Amino acid sequence: MKSVIDILDLSVEEIEELIHTACDIIARPEAYQEACRHKKLATLFFEPSTRTRLSFEAAMYELGGNVLSVSSGSSSSAAKGESVADTAKTVSCYADIIAMRHPNEGAPYVASLNASVPVINAGDGGHNHPTQTLADLLTIYREKGRFDHLTVGFCGDLKFGRTVHSLINALSRYEGIEIVLISPEELKLPSYVKKDVLERNGIPYRQTTSLLEPMPDLDILYMTRVQKERFFNEEDYLRLKDSYILDLKKLETAREDLSIMHPLPRVNEISVAVDADPRACYFKQVLNGKYMRMALILKLLKEAEQG
Ligand code: CP
Repeated sequence: MKSVIDILDLSVEEIEELIHTACDIIARPEAYQEACRHKKLATLFFEPSTRTRLSFEAAMYELGGNVLSVSSGSSSSAAKGESVADTAKTVSCYADIIAMRHPNEGAPYVASLNASVPVINAGDGGHNHPTQTLADLLTIYREKGRFDHLTVGFCGDLKFGRTVHSLINALSRYEGIEIVLISPEELKLPSYVKKDVLERNGIPYRQTTSLLEPMPDLDILYMTRVQKERFFNEEDYLRLKDSYILDLKKLETAREDLSIMHPLPRVNEISVAVDADPRACYFKQVLNGKYMRMALILKLLKEAEQG
């Protein structure tokens, strides 16, 4: 039973296949309208979400399937102390596939060990968010036409930003990738990601606190929100939350073909005036997320049926 907990659970070839399916869904949506008829997706979200939960649910409806939803921990038996393992066993009795978001790192992995249906990690703590990475990869593919030979700047909360960790993992498998890590000292990329991903794969990277200095070099600028919910004290969050605010002035030295990405939600880190700039891709990411989740649901259900 294949689950997707980490983006590396999908090979480069499988990601290519998902992108191919997503592009076909975009071109021929009517061909997929009945693809998941009589199938049920359970979305188990123990942390807030707008995009991920609703795009999973929209994906399943557009495939002709149905959705069972837990939209907060307080509305499920988790509030009574039920374990993730028991929740996974229980929901497997009702649904054909599960998408789970949880504040505890590793919770969707535990669910995958106990479920009898595929489990998709929809974000676990500050750890991983593989389906956001699928959305990001489709966006990069549609904007750049390739995943290799790109200089990618990650800016903001690189410590707690799970989307950053997952995308760096995904990009580390392609040739000619260069990474620029732009963050305050306190929010630097965790050393395990630097050592186990960047250094192990020989990916050149540099760290800076300046957003302006690397701007002219970047093919992609991936902005992130400072993750308030992961901070232990309000004072540190308030001090760091506006470390970087991208505005049109800061983009003056950027390339004409820069792609500005952000997993969203945005707080202050991108000025609303940037939304009208043709280089802004973050709302395209939102839509691409639905197509890639459709492709992933199709793939995992097909594989589960084949045993
Ligand atoms: N990008 C993302 O995970 O957004 P949500 O928290 O709204 O799901």
